[in-house]
Amino acid sequence: MNIQTEAILQKGFLDIETDPQKDLFAEIEKLKKQKRAIVLAHYYQEPDIQDVADYIGDSLGLAQKAATTDAELIVFAGVHFMAETAKILNPDKKVVLPDLRAGCSLADSAPADLFKAFKQKHPDHLVISYINCTAEIKALSDIICTSGNAEKIIESVPKDQPIIFAPDKNLGAYLNKKTGREMVLWNGACMVHEIFSLEKITKLKIRHPKAKLLAHPECEEAILNVADFIGSTTQILKYSQQDDTKEYIVATETGILHQMQLNNPLKTFIPAPPNNSCACNDCPHMKLNTLEKLYLCMQYELPEIIMDEPLRLAAKKPIDRMLQISKAAGLIG
Ligand code: 13P
Ligand code: SF4
Repeated sequence: MNIQTEAILQKGFLDIETDPQKDLFAEIEKLKKQKRAIVLAHYYQEPDIQDVADYIGDSLGLAQKAATTDAELIVFAGVHFMAETAKILNPDKKVVLPDLRAGCSLADSAPADLFKAFKQKHPDHLVISYINCTAEIKALSDIICTSGNAEKIIESVPKDQPIIFAPDKNLGAYLNKKTGREMVLWNGACMVHEIFSLEKITKLKIRHPKAKLLAHPECEEAILNVADFIGSTTQILKYSQQDDTKEYIVATETGILHQMQLNNPLKTFIPAPPNNSCACNDCPHMKLNTLEKLYLCMQYELPEIIMDEPLRLAAKKPIDRMLQISKAAGLIG
């Protein structure tokens, strides 16, 4: 490993300056062609990144796109578990992430050793894990799901089969209610989706009586109970396009508002207020990626996702199962 590679892996692109005159949008387009690269971005990325992406989607759509792309370089503008999933599906391609520190509080809430012990306490249970987890947790799982296909994945399992659901307790509780199952839940949560204030949302609804509340199922039950629509980011976006209401309160990460506003220029989207005064419904992990880092990571093809092959193979099995079930059910993210 040369000194520059080592420095980028340790500190990111801190020491590298880009010419402020550079048109990063044009440069990124050039690099895409030169390197046969595809830029995949989650809806929670900053607007500039969404604007330059070849594909923007929810976790399901991104996994499906990663599974079928013929690009040689996958540039993943999202968080680590998403880029890792792309690598699991593409062992022969280079997968880069603009900032290797872009983690996920939900994935962090399930350390593999503790989860292994938890699983051992329920030996007859099948493990369904939300895609927001590490490769180690995926390797300990039977099927992966996303917020866009979780119900269908659970329904594909015989009713008398006990299930462990990890790592999101809020999504798990919501799914227990929807499917009538009593899945054993791992006690994890997303820091962004647990921050919404029911009190402030209730006051906002009084001021905007016609506004509908759109919520992601990672939100707490109290928020979901008052939501008009609950779904993955793609489902929320589609709902806002097809529904004829003019105003929405959006209880998920604020990045989604960019596509909502672009697709519905005449509608009003209000971010649901957090229970404090900071902008905590911005995911600090997602927002570590910037347009400049995206450009640099394409230029240097770093930092790259590297995976141990036995772990990759073990983590791939439950992802493949998810992709098969989703395809059979006609689910597209
Ligand atoms: P979806 O992409 O499935 O909507 O989930 C949102 C999320 O929290 C990703 O980190
Ligand atoms: Fe993880 Fe929550 Fe950020 Fe999504 S929004 S990446 S679940 S911390």
